[in-house]
Amino acid sequence: MRIAVVRGSLMTGLTNRVPLSDSIRSPNVDGMRFNVLAKLGEAVTVRPYVTFVVHNCHVSQLRPAGVNVAQRLYRGSNGNISRNIPRKTQHHHLLQHDKTLIRFCSSKSSASQSQSQSPLAWQIGQYGGNSTLKLTECQMPVIKKANEVLIKQVHAASVNPIDVKNRSGYGAVFLNKARGVKPGDEFPLTLGRDCSGVVAEIGRGVRDIKEGDNVWTTINAVRQGTFADYVIATTDEVGLKPSNLTHIEAASIPYVATTNWSAIYAVAKIRPANALGKRALILGGSGGVGTFGIQLLKAWGVNVTVTCSENAFDLVYGLGAHHAVDYKSPNILEELLKHGQYDLIVNTIGESMEDMSVKLIKEKAYAQYVTLVAPFIDEMEKKGLFAGGLSSSLMLFQKSRKFSALGGTYRWAFAQPNSFALKEVAKLVEDGKIKPVIDETFDFQDLPAAFERVEKGHLRGKVVVNVAHGDLGSHVTGEVPRLFDE
Ligand SMILES: NC(=O)c1ccc[n+]([C@@H]2O[C@H](COP(=O)([O-])OP(=O)(O)OC[C@H]3O[C@@H](n4cnc5c(N)ncnc54)[C@H](OP(=O)(O)O)[C@@H]3O)[C@@H](O)[C@H]2O)c1
Repeated sequence: MRIAVVRGSLMTGLTNRVPLSDSIRSPNVDGMRFNVLAKLGEAVTVRPYVTFVVHNCHVSQLRPAGVNVAQRLYRGSNGNISRNIPRKTQHHHLLQHDKTLIRFCSSKSSASQSQSQSPLAWQIGQYGGNSTLKLTECQMPVIKKANEVLIKQVHAASVNPIDVKNRSGYGAVFLNKARGVKPGDEFPLTLGRDCSGVVAEIGRGVRDIKEGDNVWTTINAVRQGTFADYVIATTDEVGLKPSNLTHIEAASIPYVATTNWSAIYAVAKIRPANALGKRALILGGSGGVGTFGIQLLKAWGVNVTVTCSENAFDLVYGLGAHHAVDYKSPNILEELLKHGQYDLIVNTIGESMEDMSVKLIKEKAYAQYVTLVAPFIDEMEKKGLFAGGLSSSLMLFQKSRKFSALGGTYRWAFAQPNSFALKEVAKLVEDGKIKPVIDETFDFQDLPAAFERVEKGHLRGKVVVNVAHGDLGSHVTGEVPRLFDE
């Protein structure tokens, strides 16, 4: 007997893409997900919601005992069977073939529906390329500490360059030490650092967050990640989601927000109270970190210059940058110096920017050069924890001397979970001072394609994975409304 694992969803999100029959628009099925074992060619009931026929879902993977991989194949309109057909075709096909067969049964709360299923997570069992990512049925995470929160319905998560690097093994030496596990014992490992979702359970010490709250979070890299139906986070990592954002929009923010907070607020010590009138340069203004950094600094009254490709000028000016300089310009240094030197330089690009930055930083002890691309982890990967730690400390010392000889300060910064930062950023979002900037959104089952998009580079904002198939919202994309009129 051939058995297929079928996983899918019938969501409001679909209405954006294909015309639906009235029955499918039934509010009872909004947000519904199904995940079922089905014999091919048979009508199955996905209790308690829907009955449909699996004739358009072909087995790509037999299911031997103990292997839980959800995978679907669809027959396209040309008759070919394929795995990664575009969402539009996939849904269109599903509806075209099945709309007369789909009928809705009684509805139940999504919470009780979720409880009846094993949660799914994208996990890796080894480091490597995208083929290591497997959609897997896993154990329901359980609250073990008083300050933990279970986010049962992860609505959306973002994919960051760090996820792609971690998939390939970057940081494993350091993170395994922090996790207290031997190499290899970290698997199966769920990647993903941030998400937006709904709290269903809280630890007994949790006070400010309650069941049912919409939250967003950046979680510590030592935990199991957010490319999953269910995530555990601590109260230090979670904040209430801004009420004016969809979960998709909200998920684009926590990781880049806490990264910028770490660089600007914690390391450079630039805060709302002392920021007004300062001049900042963001090297790399058009990606996830840069598009958020522009808005945060602008909101605090900083004059912001960025480097980016010329085709991103509209985006960065729309977000509030005062000056943008094409990093491919042969006169980049002169152009960046046109308005004087900088109190703060945030480097999201790498060491290649350092010699130029020495000439751009103000010759004052308070002037800060903060790089987010520090050699710390690379050194540990190459040389091991002790020797790598030593060599990176030496590098930090030498670079600090180079900058301090001119009067400025050289610093490294790392993304840190920070519930205070999320709370402050939520206020700025609700005040309309910070907007989500999303390059592209992918369905949860297409996570490998989302990783490919991040790997391809040239991002304009964030890549977000729509885990619970929620409302896409109206975030900033290619066509950028100006947030600030100069
Ligand atoms: N230390 C930490 O904890 C931490 C945290 C977050 C991120 N990071 C690191 O910070 C870096 C940026 O992250 P991200 O999420 O913003 O990446 P991203 O979303 O991929 O954005 C990178 C942006 O830089 C632009 N770019 C490429 N080369 C450039 C150059 N020479 N000058 C100016 N812009 C350039 C790219 O567009 P075009 O190529 O089209 O110009 C793209 O828009 C990554 O290396 C990431 O690993 C570190």
